[in-house]
Amino acid sequence: MNAPVGADGTVSVPPPLEVGGTNPPVVDAKNLQRTYQIKRGMFAAPDQLRAVGGVSFTVASGKTLAVVGESGCGKSTLARMVALIEKPTAGELRLGGMDAVNAPDEARNQLRQSVQMVFQNPYGSLNPRKKIGNILEAPLAINTTLSVAQRSEQGRAMMARVGLRPEHYQRYPHMFSGGQRQRIAIARALMLQPRLLVADEPVSALDVSIQAQVLNLLLDLQEEMGLAYLFISHDLGVVRHIAHDVLVMYLGHAIEQGEKNKIFSSPRHPYTQALLGSTPGLVGTAPGIKRIVLKGELPSPLNPPAGCVFSTRCPHVTERCRVERPVMREVDGRQVACHEAEKLISA
Ligand SMILES: Nc1ncnc2c1ncn2[C@@H]1O[C@H](COP(=O)(O)OP(=O)(O)OP(=O)(O)O)[C@@H](O)[C@H]1O
Ligand SMILES: [Mg+2]
Repeated sequence: MNAPVGADGTVSVPPPLEVGGTNPPVVDAKNLQRTYQIKRGMFAAPDQLRAVGGVSFTVASGKTLAVVGESGCGKSTLARMVALIEKPTAGELRLGGMDAVNAPDEARNQLRQSVQMVFQNPYGSLNPRKKIGNILEAPLAINTTLSVAQRSEQGRAMMARVGLRPEHYQRYPHMFSGGQRQRIAIARALMLQPRLLVADEPVSALDVSIQAQVLNLLLDLQEEMGLAYLFISHDLGVVRHIAHDVLVMYLGHAIEQGEKNKIFSSPRHPYTQALLGSTPGLVGTAPGIKRIVLKGELPSPLNPPAGCVFSTRCPHVTERCRVERPVMREVDGRQVACHEAEKLISA
């Protein structure tokens, strides 16, 4: 494997995937599903919990798809499937055009190097007994034939690239702030030159002032390395800053997805409108974004509503919504799963 970064900290750019539009997207997910079996007792049949109920999307190199939705809607489950940590129960997942679900173990291990994950908690994801240098070099020691000197050179260069100083190389994780630790986690994720970074709430645990610095680092790295990001967040302010495309989930289902600007300027699904309307600073930025207090509780994923998953809380619900689940379809330049989408023109 070639050096991802030179000693001066410059990053070599992997060949673009989408040249001439003929190359496949970095991620191509079709109807991805994940069901968990929940045991109720020794003799009872297990309940089925549909954490992700059929989600489709693509992410091209150099682009960010943000997945948003409230707690429990299936964001992390989706992230784990795309990062090859967990297998989908149904659906297709292609990474760089290769079937990532049915690939033989060896090919799957190769694919696993091309997708790396950054987690919310930079305190828990770094081994407290290892020095930063060891943490950064470990992926190279396991997956490459680089010499000790080459590994050290690449680790130090990557550390400089994420904004840490040379003397930090021999320090332990507890000696760093939260923002610095997240920089280390990002550096570790990039050591094997992945094409895709799956980031699950990567800045949620950080102070607001630090969040912007880490987001800007991610933006710079994306531009330099042509990385694709699957960016999980419940914070729409953050999403507006970093995403190209947005996928909104509710109770395991995608309910609206498309270009960020479309979604933020004219949300069509009542849930998207409510989500944007509950974000400080976004109310009033577009005609459809009004403060809406949703009635009712989030239903249990073990017992979802029969028709539209949002029907029990939707301010525009009709009889049809209670019995017929809407499919994703194109309305006004984005995909939306709502029978009433045409009527919900936000202008
Ligand atoms: N390993 C598991 N076994 C059983 N149920 C699970 C498992 N992992 C997740 N779930 C359930 O699947 C649903 C989706 O969970 P998930 O963690 O993906 O949501 P999330 O959107 O990431 O939530 P949060 O914003 O709180 O992180 C939840 O109802 C959760 O309880
Ligand atoms: Mg989660």
